[in-house]
Amino acid sequence: MSEDDLTATGPIVIVGAGPGIGASVARRFGRAGHAVGLVARNGDRLEQMAAGLRADVGVDVTTAVADATQPDQVRAAVRAVSERIGEPRVLCFSPIPDIDLIRPVLRTTPEELMASLQLTVGGAAAAVESVLPGMQAQGAGSLLFTTGSAALAPHPDRAASAVTTTAATVYVALLREALSDTPIRVGHTVIVGPIGRGESGAHDPDEIAADLWAHHRGDARDFPSVLRLEG
Ligand SMILES: NC(=O)c1ccc[n+]([C@@H]2O[C@H](COP(=O)([O-])OP(=O)(O)OC[C@H]3O[C@@H](n4cnc5c(N)ncnc54)[C@H](OP(=O)(O)O)[C@@H]3O)[C@@H](O)[C@H]2O)c1
Repeated sequence: MSEDDLTATGPIVIVGAGPGIGASVARRFGRAGHAVGLVARNGDRLEQMAAGLRADVGVDVTTAVADATQPDQVRAAVRAVSERIGEPRVLCFSPIPDIDLIRPVLRTTPEELMASLQLTVGGAAAAVESVLPGMQAQGAGSLLFTTGSAALAPHPDRAASAVTTTAATVYVALLREALSDTPIRVGHTVIVGPIGRGESGAHDPDEIAADLWAHHRGDARDFPSVLRLEG
């Protein structure tokens, strides 16, 4: 196997791994030979996902429990994954935000805004901090992010998602700029509309995984990619 192939198939860690994007990304990268680390809060659900992936794709998969709002938990989870399957060459950061925090701006508390930022921006920064030194040492890596689309048209009825998604968009763009002269890729997929498997009017998570795969391979035409539903 060439050095390029080795680089392309290093482990992926998915922070905020669930049945939608998380499972699809695990399958897409797993099929291509990447070992997979799944990180989220519910250990039983992670183990069920891992068993499904091993059975369906035959992928080498491990799990670690962490609340992504807690940087120390993210660091420990990435460390645990690295010890079992190797230092991640790919990060997918895609936890689903808490919809209870999404309220009109005049009824949104500072605590709600901070909680929202703590997951989507703080969690992303903790995950990046945990994987980036290993990627830099190996001279290869992809940092992949998903968000909803609230930053495209911020609405006063959805304050937490507007503020947080805008902040996350800026954070990811800054990362991309800072790493532009390095071999490390930064991908951001913006999803306009709901996600659902086999549901009309919803994005199939496999298509979102394909877009993240394109960012990883350097094939995505736009940064960020904006995925809109037809019609
Ligand atoms: N679902 C939609 O309709 C939709 C629409 C537009 C955009 N998006 C974007 O798509 C991404 C999510 O994809 P998905 O909906 O398909 O999700 P998913 O991969 O099915 O699941 C995401 C997982 O995130 C985990 N999570 C939530 N809070 C967490 C925390 N504090 N720490 C660690 N893990 C946490 C949850 O697992 P635990 O409960 O076990 O922690 C959940 O299962 C997000 O970027 C979201 O903004 C989703």
